[in-house]
Amino acid sequence: MTSQEIRKRFLDFFAKRNHAILDSASLITADDPKATNATLFNTAGMQPLIPYLMGEKHSRGTRLASSQKCVRTGDLEEVGDNTHATFFEMLGNWSLGDYFKKEAITWSWEFLTDINEGLGLDPNRLYVTVFAGNDMVPRDTEAVEIWKQFIPEHRIYYRDSKDNWWTAGANSPAGPSTEMFYDLTGGLGDLSAEEFEQADEDQKLIEIWNDVFMSYRLEGGEIVGELPQKNVDTGAGLERVTAVMQGTTNIFDTDLFLPLLTIVKDGAENYNERHARIVADHIKTAVFLINDGVVISNTGRGYVLRRILRRAYSSLEEMQCSEKIIPDLIHAVIEMYRDLYFKDVDEKKIAVKIKIVATEMDKIIRIIKRGVKIFKKIKDNPNTLVTGKFLMDLEQTQGLPLSMSLKLAKQFGIDISHEAIQEAKRLRKEHQELSRKGAAQKFKGGLAEDTPKIRALHTATHLMLAGLRQELGNDVHQKGSNITEERTRFDFTYNEKVSRETLDKVEEYVNNAIQTHAKMGVQLMEKEKAKQSDVVGSFWEKYPDTVKVWTISDNKGNIYSRELCGGPHVDDLSQIAEFGVFKIKKEESSSAGVRRIKAVLEK
Ligand code: SER
Repeated sequence: MTSQEIRKRFLDFFAKRNHAILDSASLITADDPKATNATLFNTAGMQPLIPYLMGEKHSRGTRLASSQKCVRTGDLEEVGDNTHATFFEMLGNWSLGDYFKKEAITWSWEFLTDINEGLGLDPNRLYVTVFAGNDMVPRDTEAVEIWKQFIPEHRIYYRDSKDNWWTAGANSPAGPSTEMFYDLTGGLGDLSAEEFEQADEDQKLIEIWNDVFMSYRLEGGEIVGELPQKNVDTGAGLERVTAVMQGTTNIFDTDLFLPLLTIVKDGAENYNERHARIVADHIKTAVFLINDGVVISNTGRGYVLRRILRRAYSSLEEMQCSEKIIPDLIHAVIEMYRDLYFKDVDEKKIAVKIKIVATEMDKIIRIIKRGVKIFKKIKDNPNTLVTGKFLMDLEQTQGLPLSMSLKLAKQFGIDISHEAIQEAKRLRKEHQELSRKGAAQKFKGGLAEDTPKIRALHTATHLMLAGLRQELGNDVHQKGSNITEERTRFDFTYNEKVSRETLDKVEEYVNNAIQTHAKMGVQLMEKEKAKQSDVVGSFWEKYPDTVKVWTISDNKGNIYSRELCGGPHVDDLSQIAEFGVFKIKKEESSSAGVRRIKAVLEK
């Protein structure tokens, strides 16, 4: 059975039992903090449904089912073993105060074993676990009674809250669960409780479905009461179910990965299964993340994207595999899921975004190569004295970090004196202090302190400057700025009063960026390069040689603002929306040729 057919059978099965079929939500968690429990991505099918599990009414009714895109990056080091991937889909069905244990268990069993409507798995290869109970919640004998209609009692095992209790964070709905396991070997037969645990540990069993009976409310990790309704939340990993159905013990040997692995195999000089799996999984995840609007950056979601792409490129390098296969991989990922998730996707744009990281990595490799040349030369001229100043010059002008210089020196058998290293560190500190002073001066002029509201106003101020330049031309420059919890005050060069009409347009520019969920990214750049590009900045002289450039852009690649700044800023423009909309309250003269604006965020 293909993965597509498994997904379809699951959704059809529950549609037939009066469930509304939901489209997968975006991988990016909702802005509603109640709904996210502060994870960066949806990590389970139930996550977009948290408000409804807590009692809110869902417009599609009380029976729902979906195949939800999920990304988990907690086990990054384990990706490439038999069962871990960063991207996966979770099949799930939900009851929002509608049916409870009896129907949930009965349908799980039917779907797993029915040959016509479900998967037709051999009942003799299935085992289940139920919640053993604790001080707060009783042992789930009710679930056992229901299971006994389908499975002999000695194949039902009690487990404690480590395995059979589900929550989505410290403040979430929660409840005991019952899990279903499949015998991968086909020969396990009846197992005692100890034998069952051992078989699970030996990966002879695979957990394929989890039904949670969600009726408790957690706050700060503690049960504080019951939910207004008794819910069911189930989750089955499509990759694992597919492995079972395709007769393999690992998720990479399925139609969800094989087309990608074949491309890597064809391109690699030095094929390695583990590295190939990492490439396949990480490129797949990157395509999904970019498609859902994640932009490479140094924090949050954008940083996760950068990190997995770096890992993918390293694995390609390990296998001596050309990065030219990347567009083929992107294409294969999109083909695999086109009808579901990639109807009008622009493959080329995705490829361009992925390549950003390759370019970064190329740069690092170039720096190291340059370093190798320099140290080789020193080796060939044994009279050269490596001083602290020399080492710092390498760091500041060639981008070769001190730690890397020391490594290369060691590699070439070049002695560097303790004094030289100390001197280099002292010079570095001096340099940092100088640049910090410059930044602090700037900081004082702009931000009085660092609070979430002040950050939000600060980022909004960048957008406002970009909006003013769009409306009034590029002769508009920042003259000063001062931001408090209440407002941003911004001085800029311009010779006459700015009309209300123009101010309205500037407001619209700012709010439009916020509402389209544009993202904030930051990049380190050599000052001279930044000056020559389209970066907006004043007080260039106050900045160190390497500057921070902040870019606000949306997932279509539109750039709203690109400005030199010491920070700090929000990572994500939804953090501005929390404080309301941007309004310009006042525009007045500040001094000759300088105007002053006061603006706020208000609900
Ligand atoms: N929330 C549970 C899980 O992710 C069931 O959907 O396993």
